[in-house]
Amino acid sequence: MSACNPGPTAYEQLLRRLSSESHSWLVTGVAGFIGSNLLETLLALDQRVVGLDNFATGRQCNLDEVQAIVTPRQWATFRFIEGDICNLADCRTACQGVEYVLHQAALGSVPRSFADPITTNGVNIGGFLNMLVAARDAQVASFTYAASSSTYGDHRALPKVEGTIGKPLSPYAVTKYVNELYADVFARCFGFNTIGLRYFNVFGKRQNPNGAYAAVIPKWISSLLSGETVYVNGDGETSRDFCYVANAVQANLLAATAANPAALNEVYNVALGDRTTLNTLFALLRDGLAAHGVGPAVQPVYRSFRSGDVQHSQANIEKAQRLLGYAPTHRVVQGVREALDWYVEMTT
Ligand SMILES: NC(=O)c1ccc[n+]([C@@H]2O[C@H](COP(=O)([O-])OP(=O)(O)OC[C@H]3O[C@@H](n4cnc5c(N)ncnc54)[C@H](O)[C@@H]3O)[C@@H](O)[C@H]2O)c1
Repeated sequence: MSACNPGPTAYEQLLRRLSSESHSWLVTGVAGFIGSNLLETLLALDQRVVGLDNFATGRQCNLDEVQAIVTPRQWATFRFIEGDICNLADCRTACQGVEYVLHQAALGSVPRSFADPITTNGVNIGGFLNMLVAARDAQVASFTYAASSSTYGDHRALPKVEGTIGKPLSPYAVTKYVNELYADVFARCFGFNTIGLRYFNVFGKRQNPNGAYAAVIPKWISSLLSGETVYVNGDGETSRDFCYVANAVQANLLAATAANPAALNEVYNVALGDRTTLNTLFALLRDGLAAHGVGPAVQPVYRSFRSGDVQHSQANIEKAQRLLGYAPTHRVVQGVREALDWYVEMTT
């Protein structure tokens, strides 16, 4: 292979393989942001998908949108179960006959976990354990779950490497770390291997811009589109490794089908390895919207830092590159462009 032509990536090879092999997948949290993007990709690849969601934060409109994108034949292979991961029977029903589990259902948001730690704990830990037990008993081929960069907690070193974490800074972070502990114990005690994906600030289409617990990118886009004030928590020099949802989808598909034994029972950073400040992000969004002819050149309003937030976050993604073949397809600028196209289309 010449240096100019490195050949197809592991993901390109996987997509080619999946397009000629139909497998059965379970996506929990399928009506949510990441779940519905997984659903769209899998159905477009002619995969059979079972989806589980209780619409706690997920939305029927996300499912409707996927239905409108895929073909009627692809949509017919999707089976939706309205159910709760806190109910073991629902988890068992959902896992029946499934090969690959992509477990996304959880209550996200650090502030939500401060407001109601008991509910976050019940869903994110109790529900996770139910899913582990149900998937283990159903003898699924693989179990991939949404972990979180919040597990790095108060550890200050950058970039974040999987083996070195600090103390959790929120109830939400505790729940995501406990997921990893349970996953590891299930491998040791029951030989049930899993893969955890520590997402770093995922963004993209269908991420909910509304409500008190909206993430920064959809919330700012929505504010800019409606001419409302954009608030920056802190001085704007807080930085994050923002990760476009297509990269998170890629990581899930690679993890679910990973054949290398060394890749199993591990956790991986899912991000870009880049660091974008909130000030840079704001400029990207404002200028991107201006290119759509939207909005005057507004300035954000700065207010105090939010408790539970870390100052800087940036991933080292070498482990996912090496063991999963992960190769992000979208840098922040491309992701922001695609996300903006979607939000603008949704509001016009
Ligand atoms: N978006 C991010 O930046 C990010 C970062 C780190 C981790 N995560 C994790 O990724 C996963 C998906 O997050 P998202 O951003 O798509 O959030 P989301 O809120 O859009 O999706 C979560 C989905 O889970 C469903 N759900 C919640 N409780 C449930 C229950 N008891 N039973 C069944 N379904 C339930 C919701 O209705 C929703 O559809 C979550 O586990 C989250 O903690 C997300």
